[in-house]
Amino acid sequence: MTGDAVAIEGVTKSFGSLRALDGVSLRVHPGEVYGLLGPNGSGKTTLIRMLVGLVLPETGSIEVLGTRMPDIGVLGRIGYMTQQAALYPDLSVEENVRFFGAVNDAEAGLEEALRFVELWDRRSSTVINLSGGMRQRLSLACAIVHKPALLLLDEPTVGVDPQLRLQLWERFRAMTNTGTSIVVSSHVMDEAERCDRLGLILFGKLLAEGSADELRRRAGTDSLEQAFLALSGTGR
Ligand SMILES: Nc1ncnc2c1ncn2[C@@H]1O[C@H](COP(=O)(O)OP(=O)(O)OP(=O)(O)O)[C@@H](O)[C@H]1O
Ligand SMILES: [Mg+2]
Repeated sequence: MTGDAVAIEGVTKSFGSLRALDGVSLRVHPGEVYGLLGPNGSGKTTLIRMLVGLVLPETGSIEVLGTRMPDIGVLGRIGYMTQQAALYPDLSVEENVRFFGAVNDAEAGLEEALRFVELWDRRSSTVINLSGGMRQRLSLACAIVHKPALLLLDEPTVGVDPQLRLQLWERFRAMTNTGTSIVVSSHVMDEAERCDRLGLILFGKLLAEGSADELRRRAGTDSLEQAFLALSGTGR
C-alpha cells in the first residue's frame, strides 16, 4: 500500500520480439493529472490497458487504488475512455450511458454525467447521428457515470476542436478538484502543459518525468516539444 492512485514498478511487456514496455516505474498521486507523452507505438495504450488488467505485465507489479492488479473488484472505481470509442452506434446517447452505468450499478449518475458533457438535451439522439466531438463527450460521460476515483483517458481529444478541447480539460480539472486522479495519454504538446506531471515515454521506456516547466528547464529549452526531443536523444 502506497497511498498513491497508481504505483507501477519495473513493468515489462513484449509482443513477440517487440518490447512494448521496458522496465517502466511510475506513480500517480491522488488528485493528480499525470500525462503520458510519447509518439505512436511508444507504449502508452499498453500501459493504460495494464492499469485495468487487460494486459498483464511479464515482470514487475501494478497497484491501482491500493489494490494489486489484476483485480476485478477495483474496476468499479476506475473509469476508462479508450482510444477507439467503445459506444454502441445504434443506441441513443442516454441508452449508452445507462448501459455503462448499469455495468457499474450507477443509474443515479446518468443525468449528472450527461449534463457534465452538455449532452443532456441530446439524450434521445442515436449515436450515429452525433458529431465526432459529441461522441467524444459521450465516451467521457460513459467513463465517469459511476464517479470513478481513477480516470484513464487514452488520447481523449483526438479529432476534437480547440474550443471543445479546452472545455474537456476544464472538466477533467473539475474532476481532480473533487479528488479524482487522472492518467491521460497524448502527443499534443499544449495538452501536456495542462498536466501536473508528465512521463515522457519512447520505445516502451520512461525517459524523463516532471512538470512541463521542470522538463523544459532540465533540457534547457523554451518549448516542451524541444525538451521532448532533447530528453529522448532524438533532438539536436
Ligand atoms: N495486442 C498487440 N499485439 C501485438 N503488438 C501490439 C499489441 N498491442 C500493442 N502492440 C505493439 O506495442 C507497441 C506499443 O503500442 P501502443 O498501442 O501501446 O502504443 P501507443 O503509444 O499507444 O501508440 P499510439 O500513439 O499510436 O496510440 C506498438 O509497436 C504496437 O504495435
Ligand atoms: Mg495508443
